[in-house]
Amino acid sequence: MPMDDKFMLMIPGPTPVPERVLLAQAQHLIGHRSGEFSQIMGEITDHLKWLHQTQNDVLILAASGTGAMEAGIINVLSAGDRVLVGSNGKFGDRWVKVCEAFGLTVELIEAEWGQPLDPAAFEATLTADTAKAIKAVIVTHSETSSGVLNDLEAIAKAVKAHGEALIIVDAVTSLGACSVPIDDWGLDIVASGSQKGYMIPPGLGFVSMSDRAWAAYETSTLPKFYLDLGPYRKSAVKNTTPFTPPVSLFFALKVALGMMREEGLEGIFSRHQRLQQATRAAMKALNLPLFAPDGSASPAVTAVMPEGVEAEAIRSVMRKQFDIALAGGQDHLKGQIFRMRASLGVCGRSRHHHRRQCPRSHPHSFGGDRLYPWGWVGSSPGRFDGVLGNCKGTSFGCPR
Ligand SMILES: Cc1ncc(COP(=O)(O)O)c(C=O)c1O
Repeated sequence: MPMDDKFMLMIPGPTPVPERVLLAQAQHLIGHRSGEFSQIMGEITDHLKWLHQTQNDVLILAASGTGAMEAGIINVLSAGDRVLVGSNGKFGDRWVKVCEAFGLTVELIEAEWGQPLDPAAFEATLTADTAKAIKAVIVTHSETSSGVLNDLEAIAKAVKAHGEALIIVDAVTSLGACSVPIDDWGLDIVASGSQKGYMIPPGLGFVSMSDRAWAAYETSTLPKFYLDLGPYRKSAVKNTTPFTPPVSLFFALKVALGMMREEGLEGIFSRHQRLQQATRAAMKALNLPLFAPDGSASPAVTAVMPEGVEAEAIRSVMRKQFDIALAGGQDHLKGQIFRMRASLGVCGRSRHHHRRQCPRSHPHSFGGDRLYPWGWVGSSPGRFDGVLGNCKGTSFGCPR
């Protein structure tokens, strides 16, 4: 899905938005209680179930990914409930904070940032819980702060074997980038946000709820109002929302999901995987150490920990000389790593874009995908050396 001649946002999200999707938002508004809106919402809901690979309800909230996760947590739990939270990065840590804010009793399973969570640790804790006191297991699938993809399938298996606990999944940077087969893996609650794999601007959150999750909803006593999913479910049956929705984002979502459906799930996942592999191969070829191991690499975000050159200097050169925005490290990794959206959502654009330095354009395509600047850089030996050299104070110009 090419982008044309725009400043290139290669942070893990928001992602660039395809022109067709941008234009969809420029339409005049319609009433959100109209038949026209309901028709759009019906279509969107059908697409969402397809993307989530589920027959479960997939509810749409005017909220970011955090709001969707918080909704998932507070709708199925009660104060004092014991929850097992996996954390190997910033977002795992965030779910601990949310749980604590609502008076839940948190037990942590941790791994170092950059390493995957160990499914055996979940299995051991859950097996030891013969009293079935653990009410939920909370896992971040793709940990955006480190570029690690946790083994959700294996963790979900351990949760299913426990029999009582629900599994609540942060799929904010995995949904739409790799397969999250909700029904096959028995995922009870899965949360995501619009500014990542969905290729639309921030503002919408999505929560899928299994029958078991709805059963837990009936006994959950945590306080909720705007994020009470009951009214969303009731309204969704009539293809409407309990509160005024961001109508323009619904226009955008309909188009974006339609594009994804045209491409097909396999096409979407293999495209992300191909670009992830290309990004990682390019970083290796440039002797830039990858932060996450090959076997646990996120399809959406690649984190790099450069040696001998400042991560922030690379980010600065990429921003100033190439118009490419990369993300920095978070918390203790600030200044130590940079992170880039290898592929999430929109995968490239048709033209190279450093017009300020170079009057020429550099079309570059690769196997049907438009190759993003890393690939182009990598295809010209010495090119990235130039970037590194520039970080160290030397200059570089447009390659001929
Ligand atoms: C894995 C993950 N979880 C949660 C969030 C939070 O989402 P939001 O910023 O939309 O609230 C993000 C955002 O980057 C994320 O990457």
